[in-house]
Amino acid sequence: MRVMIIGSLAGELGKAARIAIAHGGKLDQADDANTALARLRSDGRFDVVLCELTHNVGAVVRALAAERMAVPVVACGTGDDAEAAAQAIRDGAREFLPLPPDPEVIAAILEAAAGESHAMVVRDPAMQATVRRAEQVAGSEASVLITGESGTGKEVLARHIHRRSRRAGGPFIALNCAAIPDNLLESELFGHEKGAFSGAVARRVGKFEAANGGTLLLDEVSEMDVRLQAKLLRALQEREIDRLGGSAPVRVNVRILATSNRDLPAEVQRGAFREDLYFRLNVVSLRIPSLRERPGDIAALADHFARHYADVNGVPNRALSREALLRLTSHTWRGNVRELENIIHRAVLLADGPQIGIEAIELGPPAQTRGANSAMGGVASLVGRRMVEVERDLIIETLGHTLGNRTHAATILGISIRALRNKLRDYAAHGVAVPPPAAGVAA
Ligand SMILES: Nc1ncnc2c1ncn2[C@@H]1O[C@H](COP(=O)(O)OP(=O)(O)OP(=O)(O)O)[C@@H](O)[C@H]1O
Ligand SMILES: [Mg+2]
Repeated sequence: MRVMIIGSLAGELGKAARIAIAHGGKLDQADDANTALARLRSDGRFDVVLCELTHNVGAVVRALAAERMAVPVVACGTGDDAEAAAQAIRDGAREFLPLPPDPEVIAAILEAAAGESHAMVVRDPAMQATVRRAEQVAGSEASVLITGESGTGKEVLARHIHRRSRRAGGPFIALNCAAIPDNLLESELFGHEKGAFSGAVARRVGKFEAANGGTLLLDEVSEMDVRLQAKLLRALQEREIDRLGGSAPVRVNVRILATSNRDLPAEVQRGAFREDLYFRLNVVSLRIPSLRERPGDIAALADHFARHYADVNGVPNRALSREALLRLTSHTWRGNVRELENIIHRAVLLADGPQIGIEAIELGPPAQTRGANSAMGGVASLVGRRMVEVERDLIIETLGHTLGNRTHAATILGISIRALRNKLRDYAAHGVAVPPPAAGVAA
């Protein structure tokens, strides 16, 4: 997790920086926005920008947008300047971090931006088979396509492959193609030259160059539009990329891993995904079983998350009671490992006995049966309803399913985070109860 700090490390922000380092963050500091922007352009590996309110947060957000850089900005400042904080959010900051810093909030922000810790727990034979296959091909240079439902651990497995590869000493860069608007994605992947478009004030390197010598994970690769698919194919075939507006190709040495939670052969069938690109990416395919197909992992994962979140939140480590464990193993995990992780995180915070008891386990609503009959019933019951209502219900329900996580909800829904946020703002303005973001530490 790499953080660019805009501001002085002399005061409270310095404390925040030390906490971030303690949580495994790598920091870079700039005294002003221009210096920071220059670093962000030339080094594509930053995950988040932390900008003090004394600097013009809105100008930083606008400059990044104008230069098509998708790194999120978190504003920070002393809590008594509520108006400036509100303005920073209106200006497009992703979050506001009040100073003096609260270690938990920093940990939550880093986790939200970095996508969690990377330990991999594997116990069930079905998952062991997948991991064995992954380890067999890890040392090769082959592209690997990892498929599986949302929350099954596709990114965790990708990082595992990288760690077991000859590129382990190089960078691991992940790019979520679904979370980045189409018009930004090309620059994010391939970078651009000065003058490539009206906001391109200087050369900027993309993720391909940032991943040079290492591994690039293209998350949700099916969401890439067809024109970009062609550019990606060329990059894979020729081992060189063209920066947007560039005149000479740039050599890159990158191994590609890709994920999809759509059925890619079906996407190829309906013409939405290039067949030649599919074959390029799918030299080896790994399918991660859903958590329902590997019940043997549930207890080990629950135990792992209980320990992890006790650590993160500074509360005593407690074991799960027998009843709690039974409840977990009999649940239908539609949200897979991520759902289990969120539930255990909440349980760690709610438990107050010597063990994590059943009363601390708050499971979501029971899974709907997905048989043909219920699907038919679902369609029938939609007839007669207005499109906007159906869309609203789908969005709210999906958010409930992701426990308020906007990024994951947007991914599942196949829309941009910005589009999701706009809709939620609209619903809230009309009095609809919208699940709050980040049910857990940050809330
Ligand atoms: N085997 C595992 N051991 C420990 N933690 C895991 C494991 N699998 C998944 N997780 C955790 O579950 C969460 C979801 O994992 P990950 O992000 O890899 O899933 P994903 O398949 O990429 O999901 P999505 O399709 O939504 O992108 C993460 O917080 C991750 O750390
Ligand atoms: Mg993922």
